[in-house]
Amino acid sequence: MTPSATATILDGKLTSQNLLDSLSVELGALTAQGAPLPKLVVVLVGDDPASQVYVNKKAKTAQKIGMLSQLLTYPQATSQAELLAVIAQLNQDASVHGILVQLPLPKHINTLDVITAIDPKKDVDGLHPLNMGLLMSGDPSACKPCTPAGVMTLLNAYQVPLAGKNAVVLGRSNIVGKPMGLLLLQENATVTYCHSKTADLPAVCRQADILVAAVGVPNLVTADFIKPGAAVIDVGINRLEGKLVGDVDFASAAQKAGFITPVPGGVGPMTIATLMANTLFLYRQAQSRH
Ligand code: GUN
Repeated sequence: MTPSATATILDGKLTSQNLLDSLSVELGALTAQGAPLPKLVVVLVGDDPASQVYVNKKAKTAQKIGMLSQLLTYPQATSQAELLAVIAQLNQDASVHGILVQLPLPKHINTLDVITAIDPKKDVDGLHPLNMGLLMSGDPSACKPCTPAGVMTLLNAYQVPLAGKNAVVLGRSNIVGKPMGLLLLQENATVTYCHSKTADLPAVCRQADILVAAVGVPNLVTADFIKPGAAVIDVGINRLEGKLVGDVDFASAAQKAGFITPVPGGVGPMTIATLMANTLFLYRQAQSRH
């Protein structure tokens, strides 16, 4: 028999539901006032099955909390010019407050060109270079990328101390790793980025009071990577033998960590709820410009 887990579960399902409930109240007040409602448009190109699941979840959650949403799907063969035309039209449409282009895009499309075409004021993912620059500058007027912002909300909900702590971020993507490190730095953590070329990865990870794994390698992080009592955040969603597993080997890691996120039910729902919060944030900013 394996010993039972000792770590506190960072419950993303519960924490995201609390956030969605509070957004729902705000949206209800707007509806009662007869105000125009925030609207999120999600654009999906191609037929990646995982992306289809994610975008449906995003559209459904918006609906559930009383936010307007639209899902636009285009075939794999859609040209970059066609996609840019769609974005230009959404940029012009005053009823649209948030535009999300689901990633990854098909290989024949340049992701940076597409993201740069989104009006930064409607960039609900915070991935436009202008918004990444604002995040780097510590300017709070931009949306923060949904996954790392959701992780921060989860850490705060469980009052995980950050100031003066060692945070290790495994992964350096624009969408998770890089902004994750910046957000932890803003909270006065001492941040280290690790990646595929990092020497003695387990030893670096063992220094971490907060360890965020976002590399997409199933079960990479085992108990051997974990400082006793650390907060372990698993951003990975990998399909392994028909099962969803994270980047963290939960069974062994939970024996050593102080806090740990499950997969599913950890970071995933936080990403979705943060997307809703970001859409409402952009809506409020648009209203205040009128
Ligand atoms: N693909 C996986 N996660 C995300 C996300 O948060 N935003 C976008 N645009 N694409 C994704």
